[in-house]
Amino acid sequence: MATVTVDCLRKVFATPTGPQTVIDDISFEVADQSFLSLVGPSGCGKTTLLNIISGIEAATSGSVEMKENGQAAKLAYVFQEPRLLPWRSVFDNLMYVQPVQDDAARERVTTALERVGLAHAAKKWPGQLSGGQQQRIGIARAFSVEPDVLLMDEPFSHLDAITARGLREHLQELWAHTRKTVIFVTHDVSEAAELSDRILMLAPGGRIHEDIQVTLPRPRRASDPEVAVLEASVLRRFEDLEAATKNQSAQLHSQTA
Ligand SMILES: Nc1ncnc2c1ncn2[C@@H]1O[C@H](COP(=O)(O)OP(=O)(O)O)[C@@H](O)[C@H]1O
Ligand SMILES: [Mg+2]
Repeated sequence: MATVTVDCLRKVFATPTGPQTVIDDISFEVADQSFLSLVGPSGCGKTTLLNIISGIEAATSGSVEMKENGQAAKLAYVFQEPRLLPWRSVFDNLMYVQPVQDDAARERVTTALERVGLAHAAKKWPGQLSGGQQQRIGIARAFSVEPDVLLMDEPFSHLDAITARGLREHLQELWAHTRKTVIFVTHDVSEAAELSDRILMLAPGGRIHEDIQVTLPRPRRASDPEVAVLEASVLRRFEDLEAATKNQSAQLHSQTA
């Protein structure tokens, strides 16, 4: 039972032009074994929110609680780039994050590599793999520590469209097997529609703009008609949000001009 509770979270950065509120009183709960996507325009605070949830960044106020059966939940993070150590083999990159280097860890690493279809690449160097394969290793590394909660920050955004589509299908299979609680950041609405149980749309200034429940059957493909309908509806709301934001900043500009 891994749940994440974000309560009244605020983050204010000190900048040369004064304090900037990036997360503005955000509260939400992520249900056990659910796949939540955070979508929003670039710069609206998605990475900051994920970094605060993971503990990489401190909040200005508010709290984040992550519990697995009453204990602190175990976390794994998949970054935008694979962040593999180039001087270690693929296998050793995964061993590096294991708390104890024993036979059980070696078995977990082997299973994780099999699950992403890259067991044959265990002895290779990261530099011998394509970008998509490296990102699959990054995902295997996260799954190999058997986390309760998996945080992913735009993990497919650096990849070409076809590779990204393949990896999304792969991620769905992995998730169906393991049912981790996932918080997935993306600015790609179609990605969110295909993968999520719930989509939280963030507005610039760090507020929740919409909370969208997704009940489409799984497994899903981007080309499924229901996924396309949902994507169009989310995209429309996303465009409305962007237009409202532009209007607001134009008004602000005319008031201060
Ligand atoms: N360490 C920092 N100091 C000051 N401002 C920051 C810092 N990190 C992020 N920001 C600002 O916070 C805002 C949100 O950034 P970020 O969370 O990276 O957005 P997103 O991931 O949605 O693109 C941006 O305006 C960014 O410039
Ligand atoms: Mg970001």
